[in-house]
Amino acid sequence: MKPLDLLSRRSVRKYTEEPVEDAMIQIALEAAMAAPSARHCDPWHFIVVKEQAGRDALADALPYGQMLREAPAGIIVCGDINVAHRSELSYLLQDVAAAIENLLLSLELQGLGAVWLGIHPNEDRIQAVKTAFNLPDNIIPVSAIALGHPAEFPEARTRYDATKVHNGTW
Ligand SMILES: Cc1cc2nc3c(=O)[nH]c(=O)nc-3n(C[C@H](O)[C@H](O)[C@H](O)COP(=O)(O)O)c2cc1C
Repeated sequence: MKPLDLLSRRSVRKYTEEPVEDAMIQIALEAAMAAPSARHCDPWHFIVVKEQAGRDALADALPYGQMLREAPAGIIVCGDINVAHRSELSYLLQDVAAAIENLLLSLELQGLGAVWLGIHPNEDRIQAVKTAFNLPDNIIPVSAIALGHPAEFPEARTRYDATKVHNGTW
């Protein structure tokens, strides 16, 4: 595993044909479920999609997720509204977003490439994913991730912007 340099985490949308070991996905899922969560509610669920038919179904639902057709794996990250703190969508989204970032960082640490693919709040994408993957009513698909061994290597770079930092007050 390489040292974690947060500036080197970039979206990777091209992958080699080498399969991703289940053990690597398992490590990433453990990292995801170590994310901060309001009131420790852990409302997240993860659907690991490796079969071509499943990845194609996910790509059909996600107009900007076409790389899923070639990626060795995809993960749909969902939240359970009944389990989220106060059953509030905002808490669900914050918790699940934290889990997704942990997942991405774990994949990066393991030398894999990945990209975050938005689902929520696009109603058409939500409905398409719910139908294709048999989600119960209380489960909200928030985002998906495409992942694999990288076939492109975007440069590390900073997006630091001093105008977005406010000292003491706005
Ligand atoms: C909520 C969210 C939705 C995103 N949806 C997509 C997407 O549908 N397709 C895609 O290729 N990238 C998607 N991205 C990735 C962003 O385009 C990417 O993170 C951004 O351009 C910054 O580039 P970097 O990840 O290489 O630093 C999404 C990112 C976020 C946080």
